[in-house]
Amino acid sequence: MYNEIDLDKIDISKEPPTDEPARQYYFMAKCREWVREFEKKNGRRPCFFTQTFGCQMNARDSEKLTGILEQIGYVQAESEEADFVIYNTCTVRENANNKVWGRLGYLNTYKKAHPHMKIALCGCMMQEPEVIDKLRRSYPFVDLVFGTHNIYKFAELLTRTFEQPGMLIDVWKGTDKIVEKLPIERKYNFKSGVNVMFGCNNFCSYCIVPYVRGRERSRRPEDILEEIEKLARDGVVEVMLLGQNVNSYGRNLQEPVSFAQLLRQIEKIEGIERIRFMTSHPKDLSDELIEVMADSRKICNHLHLPLQSGSSRILKEMNRQYDKEQYLALIAKIRKAVPDIALTTDIIVGFPGETEEDFGETMDVVRQVGYDSAFTFIYSKRSGTPAAAMERQIPEDVVKERFGRLLKEVQKCAAERARALTGRVEKVLVEEVNEQDEALVTGRMGNNFIVHFPGTEALIGRIVNVKLKECKGFYFYGELTD
Ligand code: SAH
Ligand code: SF4
Ligand code: F3S
Repeated sequence: MYNEIDLDKIDISKEPPTDEPARQYYFMAKCREWVREFEKKNGRRPCFFTQTFGCQMNARDSEKLTGILEQIGYVQAESEEADFVIYNTCTVRENANNKVWGRLGYLNTYKKAHPHMKIALCGCMMQEPEVIDKLRRSYPFVDLVFGTHNIYKFAELLTRTFEQPGMLIDVWKGTDKIVEKLPIERKYNFKSGVNVMFGCNNFCSYCIVPYVRGRERSRRPEDILEEIEKLARDGVVEVMLLGQNVNSYGRNLQEPVSFAQLLRQIEKIEGIERIRFMTSHPKDLSDELIEVMADSRKICNHLHLPLQSGSSRILKEMNRQYDKEQYLALIAKIRKAVPDIALTTDIIVGFPGETEEDFGETMDVVRQVGYDSAFTFIYSKRSGTPAAAMERQIPEDVVKERFGRLLKEVQKCAAERARALTGRVEKVLVEEVNEQDEALVTGRMGNNFIVHFPGTEALIGRIVNVKLKECKGFYFYGELTD
């Protein structure tokens, strides 16, 4: 974990500093006093539980929350039966919201029996004014609500929650601020997400992300490199660079840098063995990036390139700014430069106005590309987005039927791609002991496929050669080789 500033050296009898991150470390020192009092009174330290909904960006944010809570003395709990529960929410599809509302009901019951408990909500869903109205009206037991733009202020908000009863809501409409060097507690010792940019400017017509995450802001390359160097010193071998559209990284910096240039710099960091990134928007994927991927020893042999739809007409309605032919031409160019590359994608079924013919175009792209894996989603209407106001929303039964057909095709392609790897020896990063069988460990190849093979805990975090002996559809059984 980062420990940039020693909390013991901070004088909390003084006024808080105004500059960041010093201000947040001051509040962490204050919260720690509160935690110590709790410990004296109860004979144990308070515990916390974080639940992350949504994407890797949110998962990384939760590591920041965890870092702060551990810094002030909280210990991690295994379940929601904790002194402090925080939900980091997602709102990309309706069912993400429903999960949160459902679990809040359960938390309310638990809190009634444990009134000292604190409940906090943060993340993308909290950026929606209707959500805040509903919380105010019907969920008065929630103590703290904040959004995506002020997550760095968590320690300060927590202090206020301890000091004053009632629901504290602090949600910002936007920000141009990036606060560096706050504590982060990583879930894994050997791999880590690294934010390279925040926000999104693309406004795909179905998508709520630009409204809840704000405009694109890139971190300075020197801050990113410093973070990765530190991770490498701590034993991290794989980094996943995170942004809604990493291909537009660096454009809004004072001294613009391209994503490809950033990758070249990261490649030089000793100790980092594998580099991944997510997500690439096809409209911004440059020749320079393809070149860097082809030259690199460390960038994984995997590209996630969301298609969304194979129909040029629907892509236009989606405001994706590429058509079917351009997408396929891009795939051909990438395959030519990096022949072995694994390709994965995101696809939405049932966008307003999608005809059987449009859907057929999506199926056609899926067959032509032969994805190694694909995330398929049923279109979900997000209020406030242009697509929500479009006519001809597609009936549920039609969407479900198409979704079923797509899933079958996607699974067929994926299984064929996987089968073709059988017998090969691949470099595998060992991630964990297999959950079902303790005699096995589970690891991930550069192309993102999973393999289980005999091994012990001692292998976790190491990159080893594994022979792929048996293909089980989407994963393999293998054995360690030299
Ligand atoms: N920035 C990334 C993805 C962000 S959201 C990108 O551009 O690819 C992850 C995926 O959720 C999207 O790729 C899309 O397939 C899906 N998604 C976004 N909004 C959706 C909606 N309203 N309904 C269904 N799926 C959606
Ligand atoms: Fe949403 Fe499009 Fe931005 Fe991705 S690029 S986050 S799909 S608006
Ligand atoms: Fe969800 Fe927010 Fe990610 S809406 S998908 S958690 S950016």
